[in-house]
Amino acid sequence: MRNILITGGAGFIGSHVVKLFVKKYPDYKIVNLDKLTYAGNLENLRDIESYPNYTFIKGDICDIEKNKEIFTKYKIDSVVHLAAESHVDRSISNPFEFAQTNIIGTLVLLNQAKESWGKDFNNKLFYHISTDEVYGSLGETGLFKEDTPYDPKSPYSAAKASSDHFVRAFNNTYRLPIVISNCSNNYGPYQFPEKLIPLFINNIKNHKPLPVYGKGENIRDWLYVEDHASAIDIVFHEGKIGETYNIGGFNEWKNIDVIKVLCKVMDKKLNRESGQSEKLITFVKDRAGHDMRYAIDSTKISKELGWKPSLQFEEGIEKTVDWYLANKKWLNNVISGDYLEYYNKQYNLR
Ligand code: NAD
Ligand code: TYD
Repeated sequence: MRNILITGGAGFIGSHVVKLFVKKYPDYKIVNLDKLTYAGNLENLRDIESYPNYTFIKGDICDIEKNKEIFTKYKIDSVVHLAAESHVDRSISNPFEFAQTNIIGTLVLLNQAKESWGKDFNNKLFYHISTDEVYGSLGETGLFKEDTPYDPKSPYSAAKASSDHFVRAFNNTYRLPIVISNCSNNYGPYQFPEKLIPLFINNIKNHKPLPVYGKGENIRDWLYVEDHASAIDIVFHEGKIGETYNIGGFNEWKNIDVIKVLCKVMDKKLNRESGQSEKLITFVKDRAGHDMRYAIDSTKISKELGWKPSLQFEEGIEKTVDWYLANKKWLNNVISGDYLEYYNKQYNLR
């Protein structure tokens, strides 16, 4: 029996985690707290919304009273904290919102856990989900390990790094039982189409330009979202208190090569002549302070906890493309309102 508060459960990764936990652990009670920002979408959770062990609460992690009420009412004994502002480009235009949610929001939750759990930290856990971006940007060689010094370079990663520091400080100062994982770039179904892969799938589908920042030479380390969710499941149950686990699939790709794979798969799926989609590639102004390379060393989680990813990248990309093509309604619903507003501003379309 656990009473778990999952924050940000209506977002991309959070919705996969909520679905995994609700289905796999019928004895656990899962409370999903999500503000439903532009990135939160209850449609992501349709198949579990009526499960008896699931409760959704619309609310802000920064709301002290709301958190207090939730911890008391649902006797929360564990937190899996995913709620965050997560898009680097948005953090460049609005860093304050990132500091508020990612730093203050995390602090409010930590403090509530400490207050509610008193001195009895037995069978309690605060699990903080973070990113490899806190380590900064790599040169041509090397990998991020758990003890790589923090060197965040965007407002997004600076805010995430700060939240990680607060989580560790609560462990050190108050002995709050915590665990942290830092994961590489995720892709897969239900990702909001402002991030590279779903944005480009949608643009290819609609014969729209593919805006590649700089020369497309930046490198990211890609992991299928369900593999991240399975790692979170393992860290939640087996992770050692106070430890950090890096999660990644040893799967580095230059952006331009990812885009070429996507174009090839899309040509095939849409019965377009080979090479058609690549013609949409358009090099645009680089992102300010664009991190060159991320690459995760996930030896620790695989050796100590036995986790490994299940999918090869090409296989994952094909599954992802199939999902976006089959879920037109989901895509059309999210591509309205706030997203269009943001898109036009970001790419100077007005
Ligand atoms: P997302 O942007 O898709 O979802 C974020 C969710 O948090 C949304 O449902 C949103 O409504 C909710 N939210 C935002 N502000 C909130 C607030 N103040 N109160 C309550 N809910 C709020 O993000 P994602 O890509 O699913 O990322 C989830 C977590 O994983 C984040 O902490 C992110 O830093 C981390 N992460 C993401 C990646 C990635 O590639 N996407 C990689 C590593 C780590
Ligand atoms: P993104 O999906 O935003 O993730 P992150 O910045 O957190 O790694 O971007 C992935 C890579 O793709 C990154 O190097 C920036 C690049 N990119 C583009 O070239 N064009 C785009 O329109 C977007 C959104 C990203």
